[in-house]
Amino acid sequence: MSAAFIEASNVWKRYGDNVVLERLTLKIAEGEFCSIVGASGCGKTTFLRMLLGEETPDQGQLLLEGKPLRSEPDATRGIVFQRYSVFPHLTVLGNVMLGLELRNRWCGRLFGAQRRQAREASMDMLGRVGLENAAQRYPAELSGGMQQRLALAQSLIAKPRLLLLDEPFGALDPGIRHDMHELVTALWREQGLTVVMITHDIKEGFALGTRLFVFDKVRADPHAPNAYGSRVTYDLPLIKPAAVAVAA
Ligand SMILES: Nc1ncnc2c1ncn2[C@@H]1O[C@H](COP(=O)(O)OP(=O)(O)OP(=O)(O)O)[C@@H](O)[C@H]1O
Ligand SMILES: [Mg+2]
Repeated sequence: MSAAFIEASNVWKRYGDNVVLERLTLKIAEGEFCSIVGASGCGKTTFLRMLLGEETPDQGQLLLEGKPLRSEPDATRGIVFQRYSVFPHLTVLGNVMLGLELRNRWCGRLFGAQRRQAREASMDMLGRVGLENAAQRYPAELSGGMQQRLALAQSLIAKPRLLLLDEPFGALDPGIRHDMHELVTALWREQGLTVVMITHDIKEGFALGTRLFVFDKVRADPHAPNAYGSRVTYDLPLIKPAAVAVAA
């Protein structure tokens, strides 16, 4: 068996007296599309922020390709939140180019030929998400679906290997959500991404994932609701004929 891309062993996370995660253990192979469902407040976003490097486990180990996760976000990981993950004062094109500049943080802003290349790559990515005609507009002038496509473009331009999605489609109308499902599935396959997506919509979790995790508490004290944390209570492999064909 190949080494896990992501491996959490016995991870605990507390905020003060509030135990959020306890004994969380899971393994994810590269290229999987993992959906996470669970009650509000059970620690799903906290887990994603650990994968991003914004939070660290209090106990236990979280490994990316066998190494402890760097405690700072870097280009291997991109994230899209439910809303407001783009910068309102930059144009659509400016937001995608910023995604590249953040990747090149060590050399700062791009100039000259590099900047032209960045602009071309950004326009290609905008074409890929169907926003080529909106390049000069500002996020406030976009619909919710367009803003989420922009957020995807901004993350993917940095060529992350791991894409983290925190209820990215939760605020969208059902028709638009369906289009976004097709787009994200296509991008996942084309770019060979590993995706970890939180959703409140279990149908969405089943439809998109190759795997579905349920986060829940296995013990609870009604007099001390914060005393115990969540872990993975179900880990369901989902048969995806198309994905199997691609892998083969
Ligand atoms: N930075 C923080 N400081 C203190 N407590 C926090 C912090 N972040 C999260 N929490 C607490 O941790 C618990 C889990 O929060 P989290 O956001 O991970 O839940 P969630 O499963 O994503 O919920 P939702 O489905 O509502 O988004 C909550 O009780 C929350 O109040
Ligand atoms: Mg959350």
